[in-house]
Amino acid sequence: MKILVINGPNLNLLGKRNKAAYGDKSLAELDKLLKKRGEGLGVDIVSFQSNSEGTLIDFIQKHSSEASGIVINPGALTHYGLSLRDALADSELPVIEVHLSNIYAREEWRAKSVIAPIARGQISGLGWWGYIAAMHTLVGELKGEAWE
Ligand code: DQA
Repeated sequence: MKILVINGPNLNLLGKRNKAAYGDKSLAELDKLLKKRGEGLGVDIVSFQSNSEGTLIDFIQKHSSEASGIVINPGALTHYGLSLRDALADSELPVIEVHLSNIYAREEWRAKSVIAPIARGQISGLGWWGYIAAMHTLVGELKGEAWE
């Protein structure tokens, strides 16, 4: 099983950028952690980051046919990225939207997500644990893991 983990604009600067909101782990460290956790679950994690909406869309169009689900932190595209939203919807994959910070506890404009209505769900404010929780949820649901 393959899960795409996608990060949008400015998330390449994780670990340097606004650490109070986004934590001190770099994107490379986060990717490493997710790949390791993915191995434990028997899942192949394919991670990608871009600062450009078009490049994110190209990646989704190219890789969605071989993937089972998407974990995405769309960065600021969360709030206005309608082409990204269409590409995610067109992929027909289960999508979990993740935010490191709590987008509801910050500036008013961050509280609106154009991605959320087409997502399986959203995790906001749990830092890097949000990515782990999203990955576990997708894999559990896709494998049809039972409650007990
Ligand atoms: C973010 C929240 C967005 O509002 C912001 O533009 C980001 C990061 C988060 O992870 O908390 O780039 O998606």
